Amino acid sequence: MVFYEPHARDRALLPHDPFKAIVAPRPIGWVSTIGPDGELNLAPYSFFNAVGEDPPMIGFSSTGAKDSATFAAGTGEFVWNMPTWDLREAMNQTSKALPRGQSEFGFAGLEAAPSRLVAPPRVAAAHCALECRVVHQVELKTIDGAPADQYLVVGQVIGVHIDEAYITDDGRVDTAALKPIARCGYREEYAVVESLFAMWRP
Ligand SMILES: Cc1cc2nc3c(=O)[nH]c(=O)nc-3n(C[C@H](O)[C@H](O)[C@H](O)COP(=O)(O)O)c2cc1C
Repeated sequence: MVFYEPHARDRALLPHDPFKAIVAPRPIGWVSTIGPDGELNLAPYSFFNAVGEDPPMIGFSSTGAKDSATFAAGTGEFVWNMPTWDLREAMNQTSKALPRGQSEFGFAGLEAAPSRLVAPPRVAAAHCALECRVVHQVELKTIDGAPADQYLVVGQVIGVHIDEAYITDDGRVDTAALKPIARCGYREEYAVVESLFAMWRP
């Protein structure tokens, strides 16, 4: 078993940081926000997950103060759009750092659809979307109390959009049919969920 402390791994054995290959796959927060001048912003975040159930809450973390975290904190609102296999190229396009004012929606050839309860629009082509109001926005700290320059935004889900084509006759969302994509370890690695297995709790 290899053991190391993160600052002191054997770079001959592990030239690339394995952290994100270990905590994998990670669902992708495809986050739409609105900037201070009304600009539409859209970007993927793999430091993302559901963090609470009742009420439902989701969170994403920005490495450095990027626009999505800044805008979500500024307006108090964001929308999560589900990245699926059919939207993988468009999702990837939206990770490009564009000048402020140029929207990733247009750049990636995506249409925006109005949200119901928040100002940021959702990705019209996304089969699921969650409208959120921000409840926490914190700069993470290290164990020494030093600022980590990583910004966590947690939102409470206040509106849910589901494409009815993915709701089965028995009233379940068909996750495998949606084919959500997820982030794996290294720059180019992803996973796609196409099948599920069942296991009951003891
Ligand atoms: C699949 C994927 C996941 C990403 N996850 C993160 C992340 O968790 N944190 C982060 O800071 N950047 C992440 N990025 C990079 C951002 O999407 C990229 O820096 C983007 O330009 C940020 O846009 P914004 O400034 O409009 O928020 C990811 C990129 C991709 C393609």
